Amino acid sequence: MLSAHDLESGYGRARVLFGVSLDVGPGQLVCVMGRNGVGKTTLLDTLMGVLPATSGTVTFDGRDVARLPPHQRARLGMGYVPQGHQCFPQLSVLGNLRVTMEAAGTGKEALDEALDLFPGLKPLLRRRAGHLSGGQQQQLAIARVLVTRPRLLILDEPTEGIQPSIVQEIEEAVARLHASGLAVLLVEQYLDIAIRLADRFVILDAGRVVRTGDAAELHGEDVRRLLAV
Ligand SMILES: Nc1ncnc2c1ncn2[C@@H]1O[C@H](COP(=O)(O)OP(=O)(O)OP(=O)(O)O)[C@@H](O)[C@H]1O
Ligand SMILES: [Mg+2]
Repeated sequence: MLSAHDLESGYGRARVLFGVSLDVGPGQLVCVMGRNGVGKTTLLDTLMGVLPATSGTVTFDGRDVARLPPHQRARLGMGYVPQGHQCFPQLSVLGNLRVTMEAAGTGKEALDEALDLFPGLKPLLRRRAGHLSGGQQQQLAIARVLVTRPRLLILDEPTEGIQPSIVQEIEEAVARLHASGLAVLLVEQYLDIAIRLADRFVILDAGRVVRTGDAAELHGEDVRRLLAV
């Protein structure tokens, strides 16, 4: 479904990714892990075209997307929820959802599905997004992408800095989406969440893939060492 090969990218002359390759199969949940600053967000930005790849290939459903701008990748079915739960703070919750629904041309059914996944948002539809808690904003950020009906959901640390009860709701939502057959590429720092959710994992260190494997291998001592701060 998503396949990246030998990706390189960075900021100006500072290269951050060195020959990163990664695959997400249909319906697969792949977890990208690694310490702070190793290049996880840079990788997602590069996969999505927010940051240009300086070399390497990115294909989505067999199609070369490496030179497409982010909105065209989104239109093909790549749904990206960037780190830090960005939404339009002045708009209502519903307004935020409508903006992306209109862009994607989806309707009420997509909205109902997203709200079923995050029922906590239902009583907040008229509330300004900027007045929500961080966890509620993260749920809204995920819902905004889900209402576009992506075929691959790309999430950058959706549980970062969020109160435990909402972390659990987000984990359950991701598990349900995965169970329903959606492919997911998830950056997650909590090892226990990755162990519960992932089919496969990729660990980055200093911009390189240093370990890949099946979820069961996440219990290994070498994995803990690669993730320890
Ligand atoms: N806009 C930018 N301009 C210049 N350098 C950047 C920029 N964004 C990130 N970097 C650098 O690129 C490297 C990788 O950063 P990146 O944000 O991809 O890491 P990360 O693994 O997502 O970290 P975190 O776990 O903290 O989110 C870091 O050295 C960082 O300082
Ligand atoms: Mg990051």
